Amino acid sequence: MAGDLVERGGVRVTQIETTRRVKALVPFHQHAPHVVSMRFRRYAMLTIAFHSMARGNFMPAPYKVAVLVGSLRKKSFNRMLANALSELARPELSLDIVEIGALPFYNDDLEADAPAPWLAVRERLAAADAVLFVTPEYNRSVPAVLKNAVDVLSRPFGSSVLRGKPAAVVSASPGAMGGFGASHHLRQSLVCLGVNVMASPEAYVGNVTALFDDNGALNHAATTEFLKRFVGAFHAWIARLSKS
Ligand code: FNR
Repeated sequence: MAGDLVERGGVRVTQIETTRRVKALVPFHQHAPHVVSMRFRRYAMLTIAFHSMARGNFMPAPYKVAVLVGSLRKKSFNRMLANALSELARPELSLDIVEIGALPFYNDDLEADAPAPWLAVRERLAAADAVLFVTPEYNRSVPAVLKNAVDVLSRPFGSSVLRGKPAAVVSASPGAMGGFGASHHLRQSLVCLGVNVMASPEAYVGNVTALFDDNGALNHAATTEFLKRFVGAFHAWIARLSKS
């Protein structure tokens, strides 16, 4: 609504100010046909955006974060966690789950005519500013589906779409250790691939079954606060690496 104050990324923008400025500029072109008027409006909007940016008074676009979830279960707690992180990360980060369940197992022989799901997932990751891994622990390690996705994304040799990306890892488990083993096995692969994994804060979410309501919404205040801090730190990490 005109006149509303919109708060984004710590920046406040008055909608009515923008509207007034456009209207103030339009009369110069009252004699012109509609097409010119439309072009002029677009020009006016761009001018205002430029001046707003020059004043440091603008809403930056959110960083695009590809989320890889290491569980295929419909009622996966890790997927619930990824959804909760997505809510908490707005508006600075736009989290988007990239599905990895249909990726054929990695096989170098297939690279000559790479399967379409491999190409699609590589394209999604290449377009992302950062990657967030949200994973359970299977037998003290990374679930095969997630390891396979990492392998697919890391190839062909020399063309890895993961290389240099800012990343973070969150693991979760019904147990008390919160998937610590999976997180660190995953980090081992990511380090070898030159992924810029945020070192801290670390996120091992234990007793995960107690944190969500029947609709899959996070309903645990302390965890919510912790995850807010986590995504805040992740945003700062991405911003820092994106500048260099
Ligand atoms: C598990 N689980 C498990 N949990 C854990 O904390 N450490 C472990 O090593 C394992 N190992 C393990 C192996 C296999 C094959 C399965 C299927 C499960 C339990 C696991 O954490 C639990 O099922 C989670 O709920 C799985 O995450 P999602 O699917 O809810 O996201």
